Amino acid sequence: MAAPLPIAWLNGAFVPLAEARVSPLDRGFLFADSVYEVLPVYGGRPFLFVEHIARLERSLREIRMRSPFGRPEWAALLTELVARNGGGEMYLYVQVTRGAEEGRNHALNPALAPTVFMMASPLAPLEESVSTHGVGAVTMPDERWGRCDIKSTALLANVLAKSRAVDAGETEAILLADGELREGSSSSVLVVKDGVIHAPPYGPEILPGTTRELALSLATRAGIATRVAPIGEAVLRAADEVMISFATRGVLPVTRIDGAPVGSGRPGPVWRTLAAGFDAYRREVAGTPLLPAG
Ligand code: PDD
Repeated sequence: MAAPLPIAWLNGAFVPLAEARVSPLDRGFLFADSVYEVLPVYGGRPFLFVEHIARLERSLREIRMRSPFGRPEWAALLTELVARNGGGEMYLYVQVTRGAEEGRNHALNPALAPTVFMMASPLAPLEESVSTHGVGAVTMPDERWGRCDIKSTALLANVLAKSRAVDAGETEAILLADGELREGSSSSVLVVKDGVIHAPPYGPEILPGTTRELALSLATRAGIATRVAPIGEAVLRAADEVMISFATRGVLPVTRIDGAPVGSGRPGPVWRTLAAGFDAYRREVAGTPLLPAG
């Protein structure tokens, strides 16, 4: 994982990341009382900006916080962060915590000023092996809390699940519960059977994925049928194709689950169509404003 880029934003100022400091009494540190977003930047332009900020606003609302900025301010700050780090390709991390207080109190204090932190990191191009061989995943039980629709920094179960996948030499942990597919430890999961893309319905148990939503709309544009409905473990294991989607990587083909090949064991035609659709969409939105006019 490459080191982040040098300039960050913390509580009102652009600062060298190496000098950014947060109090140990910050509730983000003490309680993971905090939410975040990760969004990619292509050609110096934050991608799916409105979708990411809308999800951040929702996460904040769900934890009883107000967004510290309106959308035009977020757009201006993120655009400046990108420019100060040299533009081009990168990804942005945005975190809002409930702030630091005088001591450790579980109950929230509505008077606190939030801590707002943003940094940028290099976005490595996809390795050649991903499009030729795909990536592997392992399945495991979903041990997370009951509000995974909130993009909270309380990611301990995700961290442990991803680490078990990495220990097994694989890329992602696909989480299952009650015999059904939920999502990856840091990605949404899509399943292809007989030419139809299946996606699990949203609810408190999974995060609404910005990349997944774009993938489904690009699929529709390309004439591929989509279906949002619960996906049983047996359907996952008998899939023709499985894909994971997340902001930093787009859509990746999963060609191996728990050591067994998915379909042909090679990246499939639906993934290829979506990957091409993504590239075309990136070109389509290049240079367009982040926010609709008016
Ligand atoms: N994770 N589900 C989970 C649990 C995730 O952590 C993510 C993204 C997604 C996909 O959402 P999106 O397509 O909007 O990135 C689904 C980010 C990349 C992260 O935590 O770094």
